[in-house]
Amino acid sequence: MTTTVRRLEGKVALVTGSARGIGRATAVRLAREGASVVVNYKGNEAAAKEAARLVGESGAKATTVQADVSIPEDADRLVKQALEFGGGRLDILVNNAGITRDNLLIRMSLEEWDAVLNLNLRGAFLVTKAAMRPMMKQRGGRVVNIASIAGVMGNAGQANYAAAKAGLIAFTKTVAREMASRNITANAVAPGLIPTELTAPLPQAVKDAMLAQTPLGRFGTVEDVANVVAFLASDDAAYVTGQVIVVDGGMVTA
Ligand SMILES: NC(=O)c1ccc[n+]([C@@H]2O[C@H](COP(=O)([O-])OP(=O)(O)OC[C@H]3O[C@@H](n4cnc5c(N)ncnc54)[C@H](OP(=O)(O)O)[C@@H]3O)[C@@H](O)[C@H]2O)c1
Repeated sequence: MTTTVRRLEGKVALVTGSARGIGRATAVRLAREGASVVVNYKGNEAAAKEAARLVGESGAKATTVQADVSIPEDADRLVKQALEFGGGRLDILVNNAGITRDNLLIRMSLEEWDAVLNLNLRGAFLVTKAAMRPMMKQRGGRVVNIASIAGVMGNAGQANYAAAKAGLIAFTKTVAREMASRNITANAVAPGLIPTELTAPLPQAVKDAMLAQTPLGRFGTVEDVANVVAFLASDDAAYVTGQVIVVDGGMVTA
């Protein structure tokens, strides 16, 4: 376990899709640094409750909110409930909720394309838009978007996912430019392959090939990603905005 400093004392964080995987690890990490955390989930209430329990173990306040962030009314309600939970504050937004619907381009259906774009890109737009007014009013905030190396380099079988993540990166850079004068920063984290329920169905041959291209010689962990999110959410990253931090063991640059 890495040493945790408490850089987020008194902050209120909303992490979308934080019942499981990278989102859960991020929620726990932000809490260990002192933040109160809103755990958002789509359908897995039991996992969300467990995530909130883990957040609570660090002494932080936690709540769970069911919301499908690709639906405008849900995204608005989620931010509203986060503000209620935070006593009117929302300091940190992590747009983490994401899915894959992999297929080769010639076989990819419109449904597969739309499902991924609707959550991974439109969902982040909806929640970020709803969070901007309160962050502008409090003259400060942090937006961290979970992209992917697929959005940096493309990936066979993931035309929908890569396009959504590349869009999310461009969206991040634009939020950074529009919101800088209000002291709101926006950055993206682009993980490589991180074992979670999302990546579990990938064929072993694909995983082996990715590992062979990873200079650090191992897959990343959900904590490897959460560590970087916590940095970007903290005052240590006050002068960092519009950036993409790749967390992939060196694969993209290899
Ligand atoms: N794992 C990797 O290798 C990897 C690499 C690069 C980038 N990423 C990105 O990292 C993020 C998290 O991935 P993960 O691997 O941790 O995924 P995961 O284990 O599948 O967890 C996904 C989370 O998102 C939630 N979610 C799904 N649809 C949602 C919706 N419509 N509205 C709100 N929440 C929703 C799920 O809620 P329920 O539990 O209720 O279903 C769950 O908590 C994604 O954006 C993914 O693209 C992952």
